[in-house]
Amino acid sequence: HEVADLTGKHVLISAGGTREHLDPVRFLGNSSSGKQGYALARIAAARGAKVTLVAANSELPDPAGVQVVPVVSAQDLYDEITGRAADADAIVMAAAVADFRPADVVEHKIKKTADGAVPAVNLVQNPDILHTISHDRARPDQVIVGFAAETGDTDHTILELGRAKLERKGCDLLVVNDVSGGKVFGSDLNEAVILDRSGSALPVPSGSKDALAGVIWNLVATHWS
Ligand code: C5P
Repeated sequence: HEVADLTGKHVLISAGGTREHLDPVRFLGNSSSGKQGYALARIAAARGAKVTLVAANSELPDPAGVQVVPVVSAQDLYDEITGRAADADAIVMAAAVADFRPADVVEHKIKKTADGAVPAVNLVQNPDILHTISHDRARPDQVIVGFAAETGDTDHTILELGRAKLERKGCDLLVVNDVSGGKVFGSDLNEAVILDRSGSALPVPSGSKDALAGVIWNLVATHWS
């Protein structure tokens, strides 16, 4: 993009996948690569925005001109996003956030015992960051974007689930990815439908994550104007 149409805007993006530690070396995690969030950061910076990328456990290189804030857990991500929300014109939650974490983090590595007893893992719920920042807006003019990876279920289509999620989370835009059959994760390609609060559904044809990022910023810019 040669057009610096996002100049003067500050955008806050989360990327990657959180890790919820059980002990110093083991965690509950997910296979998010961070590629979509990094693409959003790279494209926003190229279009002139000031970009803060809160990155959970991604191995991707820092995009040029982007402030990268590394985090590990959902709670870390919650603290960084809520702490920075008041300064952001848009927030895009592209990270895969763990819904649950172990109730206790054991200080030393969990060991096998002689009697073969298997440890139980008790989980507690993590805060929903997207829900929190959407329902408790730091600024009225702020545009908040969520992502949803859906497979559909026996009673609902992917779009029905997406609409219900947009409503529940309270964000302005929801990027719904069809992940049935193991699509999208780790891939360079993406195919999505972007829902907004007016009920419109914009299909984004299969293309690169950079291309999807470009469409998302176009829609965010429309909300600002
Ligand atoms: O409910 P679900 O996990 O499908 O919602 C996905 C969206 O919500 C993503 O934008 C993700 O970043 C965000 N999320 C969050 N906090 C959580 C779980 C998900 O912000 N605890």
